[in-house]
Amino acid sequence: MRRFGTFAALAFACLLLALPASAQQKAASLAATPPMGWNSWNHYHRNVNDAVVRAQADAMVSSGMRDAGYRYINIDDTWEGARDDKGVIHPNDKFPDMKALADYVHSKGLKLGIYSSPGPKTCAGYEGSFGHEQQDAQTYAAWGIDYLKYDLCSLDRQYRVLKTDDAREQFLVQVYGKMHDALVATGRPIVFSLCEYGWSDPWKWGPSVGGNLWRTTGDISDRYASMANIGFNQLGLAKYAGPGHWNDPDMLEVGNGGMTHDEYLTHMSLWAMLAAPLIAGNDLSTMTPETISILTNHDVIAIDQDPAGHQGERVGAHGPIEIWARPLADGSQAVAVFNRGDEAQPGTVNFKDLGFKGSVHARDVWQARDLGKMKGAYTVQVPIHGVVLLKVSK
Ligand code: GLA
Repeated sequence: MRRFGTFAALAFACLLLALPASAQQKAASLAATPPMGWNSWNHYHRNVNDAVVRAQADAMVSSGMRDAGYRYINIDDTWEGARDDKGVIHPNDKFPDMKALADYVHSKGLKLGIYSSPGPKTCAGYEGSFGHEQQDAQTYAAWGIDYLKYDLCSLDRQYRVLKTDDAREQFLVQVYGKMHDALVATGRPIVFSLCEYGWSDPWKWGPSVGGNLWRTTGDISDRYASMANIGFNQLGLAKYAGPGHWNDPDMLEVGNGGMTHDEYLTHMSLWAMLAAPLIAGNDLSTMTPETISILTNHDVIAIDQDPAGHQGERVGAHGPIEIWARPLADGSQAVAVFNRGDEAQPGTVNFKDLGFKGSVHARDVWQARDLGKMKGAYTVQVPIHGVVLLKVSK
């Protein structure tokens, strides 16, 4: 197992080395740590418009989220209007002036993201970029766009008729590579977010098409079962994440109201353990203090944004308790004790299993409480669907 892991890590390193140095540097400088921001889809779906986007930018600043590290304000599907007779895409009437909107977002110290599809139609049936990749990339750059989520959508028909895994992968490499080349040709740094729902193992080829992040799953919903099913199933992908290129288990649902406080703590902790992009999906303009405190917790964000960029993995499980660990740049480890069960129960961390010898120092991150020196093991009561998040050091 370990030998296979080492081999796979070496193979992945070779893949990265095969990329031109400039492409690697560009990817690393664009997304040295997992991108942080907001996206319209989870809360607004089709109801996003210019006023909503401005209000979210305002709230990202006034809530303290910008100061906590969030940067991108991302417009998802349904902004697209018609093409003119030269083929240039225009926004629909929900977005009267995209350049003015970008200027507004930039004036707040934030960045603007947009959405399209390599297919003729987006998932919501709007105009995609098929056959207009260069033109669209130029248009985005002229507007001042900083981030593109590129969603397979209607191109799935051409994908599905391909019979072999290799043919499907080659097809995706070609269509995503085409947009990447078009983005690079604009000369504007634009984060490239791949969305093909994890169908063709995008973690294996994503970096070769300049992907800074790639969705590993289908769509999340604001339910514990959905979030847990996605988050706890990210096993085995850690070796594919690192500065410039991240696994994306989809956007956050924190604050949307469908989960309990403990479930949202689990959501935020799990995404931080996974070095996942932190793209909030709630209405930032009406957040409760509780939601703000989850989304802006400095120590949890520091785990997510750790500069070493090692994604965490599950290191132990007994019954509904799962222990996940993530090595951090300073030699310490983030350790999460999750309770996936329907009643509160104790979970135990064995420090030896994490590679620590002798005594350790532990801190409870959500409680912002030093637990002092410990030896051997730590047993703690974990609420239903909840988490205890620790930082453990020598
Ligand atoms: C797909 C994506 C979602 C969202 C919608 C928009 O379902 O996975 O994240 O972008 O399309 O139509």
